[in-house]
Amino acid sequence: MVSPLEQAMARAASLVESAIDRLLVPTVRPEAPLWDAMRYGSLAGGKRLRPFLVMESSGLFGVADEHALRAGMAVELIHCYSLIHDDLPAMDNSDLRRGRPTVHKKFNDAVAILAGDGLLTLAFEVLADPATHPDPAVRVALVAALAAAAGPAGTGMVGGQMIDLVAETTQFDLAEIIRLQEGKTGALIGYSSEAGAILGGAGASERGALRAYARDIGLAFQIADDLLDVEGSAEVVGKPVGADAAAGKATFVSLLGVEGARQEASRLADRAAASLDIFGARADTLKAVARFIVTRNA
Ligand code: IPE
Ligand code: IPE
Ligand code: MG
Ligand code: MG
Ligand code: MG
Repeated sequence: MVSPLEQAMARAASLVESAIDRLLVPTVRPEAPLWDAMRYGSLAGGKRLRPFLVMESSGLFGVADEHALRAGMAVELIHCYSLIHDDLPAMDNSDLRRGRPTVHKKFNDAVAILAGDGLLTLAFEVLADPATHPDPAVRVALVAALAAAAGPAGTGMVGGQMIDLVAETTQFDLAEIIRLQEGKTGALIGYSSEAGAILGGAGASERGALRAYARDIGLAFQIADDLLDVEGSAEVVGKPVGADAAAGKATFVSLLGVEGARQEASRLADRAAASLDIFGARADTLKAVARFIVTRNA
């Protein structure tokens, strides 16, 4: 049985997929492998959770669909780039992603690095384009928010990925794991949840509620990812399992145990949903997303 949420996510995913397909036009020139690799790494599969969050948060403020889609596509491009680089031999050395060989396996390491670089750069071109929003101040705010979320500061994705590398050789405590996660996973989820507020010119309290929601679902999302690495199967998850333990990586599960991690994720999902009470029934889908994040099997 497919739930209404899963149907809504599938609809959004196909819109994102088409938008990326239109953006990444293959070429026959010498740089063809770059474009083929960018398409390969961003077009098939994936939950498209981040663009869905952008579209749903935009729905709270009456933002035009085409603006929300572009702001969502931008974060998905960054996410796909981060996965391509995350899978490289020098990083997690992973052969499987979204049920298929990783980009460096299908092409090679150099092309995978460039494909990631290409998707990263295109994300900002998408946001800067007037088609994303007629007001340049809104576009700049989106660019700034996504750059901070994706960037090298400890609270940005690249900063989090650096801390994650250190976690393979250092015994981190819970506070340090939370900071790692806030960068590695939380930051892009934070942008995604707040983008609708930026596009819709929302007030401080509404934006604050979305930020609180994002902080909790981001953490819950990574706990669920760590649990899937322990309990999931590669066929369903679409990526190798057991990788964290094999790398000796400190994770929520290694610190809290499976049961403790599951309970913590569930508590965070409940609190995330409660943060959105100010929106009433308009936020029901976002509340359902919080629950989905901790019950998903992929
Ligand atoms: C996986 O993200 C990587 C993490 C940030 C933990 P997703 O679970 O959203 O991956 P896709 O996009 O659905 O493949
Ligand atoms: C990757 O985290 C997060 C980013 C790519 C920013 P993981 O290494 O845990 O993600 P998976 O498990 O490979 O999807
Ligand atoms: Mg990793
Ligand atoms: Mg990985
Ligand atoms: Mg993982």
